Amino acid sequence: MESRGLFITVEGVEGVGKSTNMRFLEEQLRDRGINLVVTREPGGTALGEDIREVLLRPRPEPVAASAELLLMFAARAQHINQVIEPALAAGCWVLCDRFTDATYAYQGGGRQLPVEMIRDLERLVQGDLRPDYTLLLDAPVDVGLSRAGDRGELDRFEQEQLGFFERVRATYLQLAKEGGGRYHIIDAACPLTEVQQQLEEVCHELATCWGVRLR
Ligand SMILES: Nc1ncnc2c1ncn2[C@@H]1O[C@H](COP(=O)(O)OP(=O)(O)OP(=O)(O)O)[C@@H](O)[C@H]1O
Ligand SMILES: [Mg+2]
Repeated sequence: MESRGLFITVEGVEGVGKSTNMRFLEEQLRDRGINLVVTREPGGTALGEDIREVLLRPRPEPVAASAELLLMFAARAQHINQVIEPALAAGCWVLCDRFTDATYAYQGGGRQLPVEMIRDLERLVQGDLRPDYTLLLDAPVDVGLSRAGDRGELDRFEQEQLGFFERVRATYLQLAKEGGGRYHIIDAACPLTEVQQQLEEVCHELATCWGVRLR
């Protein structure tokens, strides 16, 4: 029987370079012979991408933080069932642009929803499923926001105030501090080539340690 794949997530505040570096990480891991499914949250399925569109579109009426939270987990439930769990069970590695740490950071830190509410939904929707390895791309909030701002129109999250993103970043760093060994913080404020040097080392480490162990 094929051994279970490794579940890797990429996290960080807007504009730190998650999506840019997903492509780099994908290439690095595939070059090392790893079977990989690359996906993102919210999204990753047709239903999830529809929910993503609903979540990101700016709206005239305020969105209740709990409604936002439930939509995130609705998309996640579909994603886990349709994509993540089958891939891991088949021995594929899964590389995901954002996962539940983003919910703790944005809906917990940013929107200030009680952490227990998130923990309860995490248990309900995910059972025991947690990422094996999380790359936290960290940079001062203004660095990420100015990069994101250069991309064009702002989505519903990007329209938030600076304080929101400071809470998001602080929550991510807190999760990494308390989260045992699964988090790896990458300095994402430096030029892209330097970020990718750090990521290349991580891929080498992952492929040699986990690749040998899992395959
Ligand atoms: N280290 C870097 N130095 C300079 N520019 C960068 C760096 N990393 C990414 N960028 C640029 O910053 C912009 C935002 O990057 P990207 O879209 O990858 O961020 P993201 O973390 O995926 O953002 P979001 O959270 O909004 O999805 C892009 O235009 C990208 O080319
Ligand atoms: Mg992105």
